[in-house]
Amino acid sequence: MQDTVILPDAQALTLSDLDPKFDPWAEIEKLKVQKNAVILAHYYQDGEIQDIADFVGDSLDLSRKAAATDADMIVFSGVRFMAEVAKILSPQKTVVLPDADAGCSLEDVCQPGDFARFRAEHPDHLAITYINCSAGVKALSDIIVTSSNAEYIINQLPKHQPILFAPDKHLGAYLARKTGREMLLWDGTCLVHDQFSERELVKLKTEHPSAPIAAHPECHKGILDHADHVGSTKGILDFVLASPAQEFIIATERHIIHQMEKALPEKTFLAAPGADGSCNCADCPFMAMNTLEKMYLAMANGAPKIEMPEDLRLSALKPLEKMLEMSPPTTKVTQAAE
Ligand code: 13P
Ligand code: SF4
Repeated sequence: MQDTVILPDAQALTLSDLDPKFDPWAEIEKLKVQKNAVILAHYYQDGEIQDIADFVGDSLDLSRKAAATDADMIVFSGVRFMAEVAKILSPQKTVVLPDADAGCSLEDVCQPGDFARFRAEHPDHLAITYINCSAGVKALSDIIVTSSNAEYIINQLPKHQPILFAPDKHLGAYLARKTGREMLLWDGTCLVHDQFSERELVKLKTEHPSAPIAAHPECHKGILDHADHVGSTKGILDFVLASPAQEFIIATERHIIHQMEKALPEKTFLAAPGADGSCNCADCPFMAMNTLEKMYLAMANGAPKIEMPEDLRLSALKPLEKMLEMSPPTTKVTQAAE
């Protein structure tokens, strides 16, 4: 089956066409009206992108938003698999991504051909697949999950149903521990969450003993074992907003701290450290490819635009619809602050 294509525009404006005095914020606002566009952004985007977005959310809330929007253009400021999900759920919309190269290490380590072989070796297993994968892998899966609904969905499956989980082995192992299910795990990791250091985290916690640790389940067990809360990006944000603590250690991509500092400017948020004690590892290099200038160009050019063959879209749609059916009731999408 042919995979997704990202179409460039041959006549496209480029970064070098932009005037040095160009104000991306004002121009994006104008294009939003002209193109009837909605800007969806993930919490890992740079603060200024989160601020211009119409909605900021985790993978599940953004999928729901993409499925429900009546805009003509979805500007997906996140990574490619997220924009692909928007196109699968809203095929009649134009879906643009500011940078066509904004991928994901989990998508990279799980290619459809290899995944098809893995499935064929375990024909009695149900394929529960993390949303961080290509449309091609989704099309070979039974149910898609995100970090916020995976446990809830797995708990609805018959107890003795054999499960294989791809592509994140840390999330898979965490879900196996939480649900008590045995699962065959694909050997993939997120390059951001895999780099947090348990030793440095314990050091930081010793210096800040009253700071709860909130971690994303893509982190390895050495980090999760110390966490007071484990959850999706939205779950981590909700935990922080509800906590009386004054300072927090955040073990996920550090740009989510933007929303925390906006909501709670008097509190302190510390990014979990990497092996050298720094928090540089907490930056997702793929998310960082998107900028306001590239967002403007994507809106003006209508490209890079996500397109995919209809047979691929329909095959990938099935496990995504199953996910939406089996998810917990809608949680409020965090509205971008004014
Ligand atoms: P969330 O679904 O928690 O937003 O996670 C997306 C992601 O890419 C985590 O690395
Ligand atoms: Fe992928 Fe990790 Fe970046 Fe999330 S943080 S988009 S899982 S590489």
